[in-house]
Amino acid sequence: MSEVLLQVENLVKYFKTNAGKVKAVDGVSFEVCAGETLALVGESGCGKSTLGRLILRLIEPTSGTVRLEGEDLGKLSGKQLRKKRSQLQIIFQDPFSSLDPHFTVGELIAEPLRAMGMGKEERESRVMTLLDQVGLSRDYYTRYPHQFSGGQRQRIGIARALASSPKLIVCDEPVSALDVSIQAQILNLLRQLQKEHGLTYLFISHDLAVVRYISDRICVMFLGQLCELCSTRDAYERPMHPYTRMLIDSAPEPDPEFHREDRLLLQGEMPSPIHPPAGCRFCTRCPFATEECRTEPPEMKDYGGGHLCACHHPLLP
Ligand SMILES: Nc1ncnc2c1ncn2[C@@H]1O[C@H](COP(=O)(O)OP(=O)(O)OP(=O)(O)O)[C@@H](O)[C@H]1O
Ligand SMILES: [Mg+2]
Repeated sequence: MSEVLLQVENLVKYFKTNAGKVKAVDGVSFEVCAGETLALVGESGCGKSTLGRLILRLIEPTSGTVRLEGEDLGKLSGKQLRKKRSQLQIIFQDPFSSLDPHFTVGELIAEPLRAMGMGKEERESRVMTLLDQVGLSRDYYTRYPHQFSGGQRQRIGIARALASSPKLIVCDEPVSALDVSIQAQILNLLRQLQKEHGLTYLFISHDLAVVRYISDRICVMFLGQLCELCSTRDAYERPMHPYTRMLIDSAPEPDPEFHREDRLLLQGEMPSPIHPPAGCRFCTRCPFATEECRTEPPEMKDYGGGHLCACHHPLLP
């Protein structure tokens, strides 16, 4: 495998609310290698976006570290962090709400470049190149984002994320708001740009069909913690954590003939992130849970070949 670009170590984010501390991210560790696409999957509210925002340091962690190329982002001064941040970018789900309607497309794409101190002329020519790269006409420079369709707006968001020549892009549900036909175009664009620019993606999604198409490895998250981390192939062909298997088996399958007969479907309510179950967080929804699962939090274990799983009773192949 190639070199490690990003290291996340024991990352924790608790949000203080009136009802108590929301344990949004609770002791998450993983690495992302240069040039790969690592997907982050899990049900709504499990902490995916919070994790993405922590990595970009858009929010401060309660504890834990994020290292980019070995450098601890938490130890950088304001100025150093701003510089380092140009190497980290994000693409959001809803390109419209993430783009300020008062700016032209050109200004929006150029904004990260201005923040880096690039002069006007250089900015303009760079934006033209970026428009070409994401498949938008150069004429769009002076137009406003509301004049565009969802897919085109996402292309604007991608151009803006690319502007500062980042190494890592966090893609937070980048195609979830788009029609299926447009989704494929945007996914293909992301793949093509990855190849051309050696980009690394942390790809957040709850759509397992999308994840299967785009990602090299998959990280499965449940209630603020990681359950399993493995190659995309292993996740689909030999999942070890019951939650991974149930997520995959519960995903909508257009052709019922392809449903496996021994499907394990997700059941039960999501526990509260304020009072998560002791032991394994998935124990209240797991058909295999034992007393040990209800009392002892399972540790992440390496089963070889880069297949990691945190479960007392993994589903062995
Ligand atoms: N600013 C905040 N204050 C309080 N709680 C928050 C805040 N941001 C997120 N949370 C809570 O943290 C948990 C994780 O939220 P997060 O948005 O990271 O989930 P997610 O996996 O991205 O969900 P989705 O798939 O719906 O986007 C949720 O319980 C959410 O309500
Ligand atoms: Mg989210």
